[in-house]
Amino acid sequence: MAEAGWNLVYDGFEPSQERLREALCTLGNGYFATRGAAEGADADGIHYPGTYLAGGYNRLATEIAGRTVENEDLVNLPNWLPLAFRPEGGDWLDLPHMELLDFRQELDLRQGLLERRLLLRDAEGRETSLVSRRIVHMGLPHLAAIKVVLRPENWSGRLEVRSALDARVTNAGVERYRQLGSRHLTTLERSAFGDDGIFLVAETNQSRLRIAEAAVTRVFDGADLVSVTRHAEDEEGMAGQHFVFAVTECRAVAVEKVVALYTARDRAVSEPREAAVQAVGKAGRFDELLASHVQAWRSLWERCDVALENHAPTQTALRLDIFHLLQTVSPNTVDLDVGVPARGLHGEAYRGHVFWDELFILPFLNFHLPRVSRALLLYRYRRLPAARRLAGEAGYRGAMYPWQSGSSGREESQTLHLNPRSGRWTADNTHLQRHVSAAIGYNVWRYWQTTGDRDFLSGYGAEMLIEIARFWASIASYDDEADRYDIRGVMGPDEFHDGYPWRDEPGLDNNAYTNVMAAWLLCRAGDVLELVGAERRRELDGLLGLGADEIALWDRISRRMRAVFLDGGIIAQFEGYDRLQELDWEGYRQRYGDIQRLDRILEAEGDSVNRYRASKQADVLMLFYLFSHEELRALFERLGYPFEPDSIAKCIDYYVKRTSNGSTLSRVVHSWVLARGDRARSWSLLAEALDSDLADIQGGTTAEGVHLGAMAGSVDLVLRGQTALEFRDDALWISPCLPKELQGMCMKLLYRGHWLHLQIGCEELTVSAPDGWAGPGHIGVRNRLHAFKAGDVLKFSCRRVDEGYRPEPNTAARERVMAEGE
Ligand code: BGC
Repeated sequence: MAEAGWNLVYDGFEPSQERLREALCTLGNGYFATRGAAEGADADGIHYPGTYLAGGYNRLATEIAGRTVENEDLVNLPNWLPLAFRPEGGDWLDLPHMELLDFRQELDLRQGLLERRLLLRDAEGRETSLVSRRIVHMGLPHLAAIKVVLRPENWSGRLEVRSALDARVTNAGVERYRQLGSRHLTTLERSAFGDDGIFLVAETNQSRLRIAEAAVTRVFDGADLVSVTRHAEDEEGMAGQHFVFAVTECRAVAVEKVVALYTARDRAVSEPREAAVQAVGKAGRFDELLASHVQAWRSLWERCDVALENHAPTQTALRLDIFHLLQTVSPNTVDLDVGVPARGLHGEAYRGHVFWDELFILPFLNFHLPRVSRALLLYRYRRLPAARRLAGEAGYRGAMYPWQSGSSGREESQTLHLNPRSGRWTADNTHLQRHVSAAIGYNVWRYWQTTGDRDFLSGYGAEMLIEIARFWASIASYDDEADRYDIRGVMGPDEFHDGYPWRDEPGLDNNAYTNVMAAWLLCRAGDVLELVGAERRRELDGLLGLGADEIALWDRISRRMRAVFLDGGIIAQFEGYDRLQELDWEGYRQRYGDIQRLDRILEAEGDSVNRYRASKQADVLMLFYLFSHEELRALFERLGYPFEPDSIAKCIDYYVKRTSNGSTLSRVVHSWVLARGDRARSWSLLAEALDSDLADIQGGTTAEGVHLGAMAGSVDLVLRGQTALEFRDDALWISPCLPKELQGMCMKLLYRGHWLHLQIGCEELTVSAPDGWAGPGHIGVRNRLHAFKAGDVLKFSCRRVDEGYRPEPNTAARERVMAEGE
C-alpha cells in the first residue's frame, strides 16, 4: 500500500493564509488542542493562537440590538506557546520584522508533529536558522512540548529568550462575534517555581473552572544543560521569564519548553496547580516525549487508517480528516463528559457547541473506537434530564434535546444571527430543528448494531430511545379526517427554510425528514423494549411509567405519520413546498459567483430564501443517506405510502439541483446518494467534501475551526460508501465497488468485538480475521452470508464498477447461503 500521503507541507509564508493554516495545523489529543500559530505570535490581523479544552465552556451576557444575549463559549485558554528569541538588544526573530530567507512548515500526520523551518536575516545582517517542533501529547494528555533548534549562521554573541504563559487572551477568533462578550478568564496566580519553571492559574468567570498551566524552559547544548540566569517578566495576566546566553556562529543550541495543563475537573489529582507543576518537573526532554507521543499515534493509526493505493493527494486529505477527528475525540475523551464540537477544538466558530453533526461522526468511531462513541453518547445521556425539561417547557412529554448543546444540556442556540453581508441582526430560529433528538436516537441504535454493547443499550440507550420516542409521540398531532399524524412548527436540516412566507410564526409543517425519522424512532423504541430482557423491561416500565397504551400509540403513529409528495412521487421537503417559487439559480450564480450562502445574499437584497425552492443542504436526501433502500422501503410501506424505486432517482435529481451546499455536510450526503447512480458526480463530490477544509471551500470559515462532520463524513464515505457497508438481518454486509479513480484500499473494522481486515482491490476482496478470533462470526459479502473462524482469510472476486452501474436488486428472495468462503 502507498506510503505517501502523510504530510501537509507549506513552502513559503503567506500572511493571508496563516489563520487557515493555523486551523489545519492544530495539534490536539481529545483533552485539549492548540492552533498551529507560530510560537512568537500574538492575536493580530494575521495570527490567532488559540487553546481549547474539551468541554471548557463559559457564559457571558451582552446587550445586542436592544436585547440581552447570553452566549456560552468554548473558552480560549491561556496561551502556552509564547517562546521568542532575539540577538540581545536586537529585534525579535519573528516574521513581520525580519527578512525571510527560507520557510517551510510541515504537519506530519503519522507522528502528530508540527515543524517549522525558518532562515531569517535581521536589520544588522545577522542570519539565524530556527527549526521548531511541537507536539500535544496523545498518550499523556496533559502535556505539550516545543523544541526550537537555533543556529546563528553568520554571527556569535548573546541570545535572549522569552518564554511565557499568557492569560490575557480573549475569544476573538470569529469576526461575526466581535460584538459579543469575550473576556472569559480571570488570572488568580502566576509565579516562577524551581530553577526554570513558571506557572499560571486562571479561572473562567462564570463556570468557575480553574485551569493551571505550568512550563519549564531549558537550553541544551547537545546533551548538556546550559545554565542561564532568569528574570521574571511581570505583567498582569501573564507568567513569563527571560534569559540570555552566549551562542556561537554555526553551533546549534536547543531550547525546549515543556508545558502541562490541568483543570479542577481532572481526575486522580489533588489540585490543578500542583498537578501541573509536578507533571512538567517529571516530563523529561522533548525527544523522550516525542517518542511516547509517536507510539500513542502509532496505535491509533494501526486501528484507524484507511490506506488508498496510489492516490497520494486523496490519501493526504483522507488522513488529515482522520487526524483532526482523532485530535478532537480520542481515547483521552473516554473519561470526559464531552460531546463533539461541530468545529473541532480548532477555533471558535459555533462557540464550540455540539449539534447533530455526530450523525456523520459516530459511524467511523463505532467501527474503530467504540469506547469513544459510547462516551459521546453518555454525554447525551447525562443531559437527558435537561432534555426532559426542555420538552416540558415546550409543552411536550419525553426528551427534546437542544439543537445546540454545551455544558449543561440547555438550549445554547443563539436567538439573533448577524448577516455579515447586510450587517443586520435577524431572528435565528434554528432551535426548531427538533430532528436533533432523532439523530441522537439513531446514533444510539447504530452504535448498538455495530458493537452489540448490550450493557450500554440496557443501562442508558433504552431510556434515551424511550424518552425520545415519547417526545415524538407528544409533538405529533392527530388529524382524524385523514387518519394521519402531523408534526408542525419545526425546521428540517435545511437551514434556509425556517418558516413560510405566508405565515408569521416560524416553523414548517411535516418536514419529511423529521417525520420519517420520528416514525423510525418510534419503531426502535418498541424494539428496544424487547431487547433489554424481562428484568430490565420491568425496571424501565416502573421507572418511566410505561404502559401498554403508550407503546401501542407509538406503534400506531409509526404507521400513520404523514409524508407529503410532489408530482411524480417525489417526497416533498415539507408541506407547502409546492407553493414556493423556483429560484433563478443561473442568474444568481452569474451575479454572485459563490452562492453557497444564498440566505445571506437574499436577505441583503431585502428578499428571503424562504420564498424559494432552494436548500442550504441535503434534507429529504438525508433519508437516503441514513437508510438503505430496503430500510426505507420497509418504512414507507409501514406508513402506507408507495415506494417506487424509480422515484428515488427522480427525488435525488430534484433536490441535488436545488441545493446550494451552504453546509459542508451536504456534499457528503449528495456524494453518498449518487454513489450508485452517477459515479462520476459522486466521486467529484467526495473529492470536494474531502477538500472542504484543506481548500477552505467556503472561503474563510475553516480558519475559524474545521468542519468535523464533513471531515468524518468524508472518511466514512470512503469507508462505508465504497464498500456499500450496511446492516441487514442482524448482520454486517459489504459489497465493494471501487470507483475507477481508486486502485485499491485497505482498512480495519471492529465489528461486535471482532477485528476484520479488509483489502479491496480492483479484482479481489480479501477479508481476514486475525489469529485469536474467538467466537463464530458472520459477514455478508454481496448476497451471501459467510461464516468466519480464527485465522480465516476469505477471498472474493471483485468487479470494477463503471458508469451507469445500478445496485443489485434488493429482493426479499435474496440468497442466504452460509458458506466457508468461496
Ligand atoms: C449546518 C448544520 C450543522 C452546523 C454545525 C450548519 O451550517 O447547517 O446542519 O449542524 O452547521 O456544523
